[in-house]
Amino acid sequence: MIKFSKANIDNKIIKNVNQILRSGWLTHGKFSKKFENEIKKYTGAKYCTLVSSCTAALHLSCLALKLKKGDEVIVPAMTHTATAHAVEYTGAKPIFADINFQSGNIDINLIKRLINRKTKAIVVVHMAGRLCLMDELKKILKDKKIHIIEDCAHGLGTTDSYKHSGNFGVAGCFSFYPTKQVTTGEGGAIITNNSEFYKKVKILKAFGIDKDINERKKPGEYDVKSLGFNYRMTDFQAAMGFLQLKKYSINLRRRQYIAKKYHDLLMNNKNVILPRYSKNDSYFVFQILLRNKKLKNRLMKKFKKNKVGVSVHYGTALPEMSFYKKKYNLPKKNFINSKKYAEKVISLPVYPKLSDKNIKYICSIINSLSS
Ligand SMILES: Cc1ncc(COP(=O)(O)O)c(C=O)c1O
Repeated sequence: MIKFSKANIDNKIIKNVNQILRSGWLTHGKFSKKFENEIKKYTGAKYCTLVSSCTAALHLSCLALKLKKGDEVIVPAMTHTATAHAVEYTGAKPIFADINFQSGNIDINLIKRLINRKTKAIVVVHMAGRLCLMDELKKILKDKKIHIIEDCAHGLGTTDSYKHSGNFGVAGCFSFYPTKQVTTGEGGAIITNNSEFYKKVKILKAFGIDKDINERKKPGEYDVKSLGFNYRMTDFQAAMGFLQLKKYSINLRRRQYIAKKYHDLLMNNKNVILPRYSKNDSYFVFQILLRNKKLKNRLMKKFKKNKVGVSVHYGTALPEMSFYKKKYNLPKKNFINSKKYAEKVISLPVYPKLSDKNIKYICSIINSLSS
């Protein structure tokens, strides 16, 4: 059995989590600060706040930008539903943009056409850890008051070799779900370089309270200045994340090595379209595209039979999901590439403990598929 994902939970993490559980100090502890500082150090961002999920991070980012009914926000049609849900929560309207079939990322060339005076923001997703064309996007948005939120759920370790993902827009939203490069069970983080934005999301994530527990001189000394949520992360989760992130550079190198192995072993396979290989991508998973839907279905059956865990990011273009279809009923021609991507994509496992032998085995299954 080859699992689709395996979290890097070592004895040191278990020991630390145990200590925190025994201490009784389960939230607002020292590891939350440590993890935030480590994220800032790793990504180069000025500010970071931990939250309970990437969905929460996206939601708070949309709220901090004061998105509301009547506003439009451009989002990719091929993404996790959280990307568009976060916009919906605020009453603003997600405007689905098709993707570039080769990269799986939002098609930059379509954006100009979708912008109008209602457009307040764009949420980009770095699919499978492949950076979107951020410089091109910024050029398009130059002189326009349109914010960029980066959904970095797949993007921990993704860079353009100078800048870490999440630093191109006003906010970078990360996920620490169990399949992700670093996990806290459920969890997320927002990074930003904008102090006003940081203050807003920090207050919004904890009930709208103006002082967090460490800033209060006396118990109970705080005011509630706005509506807010409880989107905090616990301290034992923060300890898990902190200890994994400390070692993430080694983990990332192994991910990139695994991706290169997949790439080399599959590059002559005529049934498969490979993504670009880049040393700057973080390889949350290694995505392959099959030439057609039938081949994908046959390969999925083979993986099941041979007990290889794989996944699909994502099986349905978002405008085709019942909720969005019912609400907006968009013509299929608006997201042809997203539909094709959904039909053909498979995510292969990438995690440090995946052995070279297992990579070869997975590729032998793919390479034995007849046309
Ligand atoms: C692109 C993308 N955005 C957002 C999310 C939501 O992340 P979370 O589960 O941490 O809320 C996911 C989940 O995997 C995702 O893949």
